[in-house]
Amino acid sequence: MNIIFLGAPGAGKGTQAEIVSKKLSIPTVSTGNIIRAALKDETEMGLKAKEYIEAGKLVPDDVVIGIIKDRLSESDCAKGFILDGFPRTIPQAKALDDMGIVIDKVIDIEVADENIAKRMSGRRVCKSCGSSYHTEYKKPAKEGVCNACGGELVRRKDDAPETVLERLKVYHEETEPLKEYYASKGKLVIVEGQEEVSDTTALTLKALED
Ligand code: AP5
Repeated sequence: MNIIFLGAPGAGKGTQAEIVSKKLSIPTVSTGNIIRAALKDETEMGLKAKEYIEAGKLVPDDVVIGIIKDRLSESDCAKGFILDGFPRTIPQAKALDDMGIVIDKVIDIEVADENIAKRMSGRRVCKSCGSSYHTEYKKPAKEGVCNACGGELVRRKDDAPETVLERLKVYHEETEPLKEYYASKGKLVIVEGQEEVSDTTALTLKALED
């Protein structure tokens, strides 16, 4: 099954993608995670993306499309995959179509803008392995320390309140039109994001079964 998770920044795409990935035994491909890893390793692509990601802007289409082409050609994607954070523009969606990739379902997780800020301000990520936590909704066993690797938990630079506002603006302008794009193809399912992660997961799994 090939699935896309759509939604505003902080809507819970990454959280749900991780859960569904384990359940269906298919990999999650997160362009945000790939770009952040490149940034950490200071690769040419990472350095190119740095100014965009830190300002809450989208990285240019040609860069992200290149990332996706390479990643989806890897063998673990042959039996299906989850796209988290791609596509984010109409040209990116068209590039996916041009690659001959058939998408089975597009799950759009809807969360009101006013709830997004709260989620983002509490998010903490591991500096070493990138695992994600929340000061309220997903606490680590020991405050400030990653359960998975013992690394230090920090706030993502682009989770600063002013950058979150910019990311939301970019989402409404550039990514939201994808809802219509996939609705017209009969692929879109809307999931209302819930207060509890497990409640959102129940709705997501139901949407995938229907
Ligand atoms: P990316 O990493 O994709 O960021 P994003 O879309 O802004 O999404 P987030 O990771 O912030 O949120 P999420 O929806 O995954 O929410 P999460 O599950 O973490 O992209 C970052 C940047 O990379 C972009 O701004 C851009 O610069 C660049 N980029 C990436 N892809 C690109 C592309 N295709 N084209 C161009 N540029 C691209 O949840 C958020 C928090 O809320 C967590 O802490 C979670 O624990 C908490 N939470 C609270 N309650 C719930 C609940 N009920 N369900 C889920 N989570 C909850």
